Amino acid sequence: MKAEILKMLTEAQDYLSGQTLCDYFHVSRTAVWKAVRQLQEEGYEIEAVRNRGYRLVKKEDIYSGTGIVSALKTRWLGHHLVFMEETDSSNNQIRRLAEQGAGKGTLVVADQQNAGKGRRGRSWLSAEGSGVWMSFLLRPQFQPESASMVTLVTALAVADGIYETTGLDCGIKWPNDLVIDGKKVCGILTEMSSDMDTIQYIVVGIGINVGIREFPSEIRETATSLELCLEESVNRVKLIDAVLRHWEERYDAFLQKMDLSLLQDDYQRRLVNVENQVRVLGYSEDYVGISHGITPTGELIVELEDGEVRKVTSGEVSVRGVYGYV
Ligand code: BTN
Repeated sequence: MKAEILKMLTEAQDYLSGQTLCDYFHVSRTAVWKAVRQLQEEGYEIEAVRNRGYRLVKKEDIYSGTGIVSALKTRWLGHHLVFMEETDSSNNQIRRLAEQGAGKGTLVVADQQNAGKGRRGRSWLSAEGSGVWMSFLLRPQFQPESASMVTLVTALAVADGIYETTGLDCGIKWPNDLVIDGKKVCGILTEMSSDMDTIQYIVVGIGINVGIREFPSEIRETATSLELCLEESVNRVKLIDAVLRHWEERYDAFLQKMDLSLLQDDYQRRLVNVENQVRVLGYSEDYVGISHGITPTGELIVELEDGEVRKVTSGEVSVRGVYGYV
């Protein structure tokens, strides 16, 4: 009820009477007043005027569970939200919830991660207040082989969401790094629990560098943040809503064909390592070739010097530009 009251107050042009809220939620005036008190305690400036009702004085988003729930306009994603001031990793947190039976669409947003995880066993810098560190749970019916495409779907959706919120146009470094001016602004870590041919669940973890102003020296040359690119502050609540709405839309397009054929053009338009020389770093071998974009199932097409064409699957491979990160 608290989040809904906040939404109603945000959308109201004038005071909302206590009676209107009581009738809407079928609760007593005391219950409404208690919810308003809680909102005030969370930092919302709500004016209460006798005979007129309640009014939200400053319509700004607060990075909290209530703030996110009341701003979310998704159909199903994130309707069960767990907001945490701090956790080890939102991916780990979703895994724990999944093991306890949490449902599809459960979302964990953490303001800070003290053991944020990146791909290939790396760590992910996730300081307080400086990014969107979130993960959600899927329980899909499709085969485990299709799961790697979810990562590409996610990359595209995050790029859409960043564009809608900030106007910044991200490139995608296959399969799922988002880059601006050749530097990484977002990483995606998809983890799966499956049997031979059944997926128990998938965890989609998204890390967007929003307000980081200075990076440690090891990644200074390759990492950036939205606020560094934009030189103004970015509303993380609106960003989450935009990313998740676009994600639902892109995921539907993926499910419709069970491949990326409906998304391929949009993905390819953003692909930075297309018609470029790339170095493919695999487990057993490294090689250099020209990348020609992706297949409808998300593999990167790489043409070697001798004309051999390989389809690279994402898995544990890393693709680099020959002269640098992109
Ligand atoms: C990468 O290496 O590019 C993937 C980075 C993924 C980071 C996000 S932040 C939210 C979620 N929780 C984690 O521990 N990792 C992912």
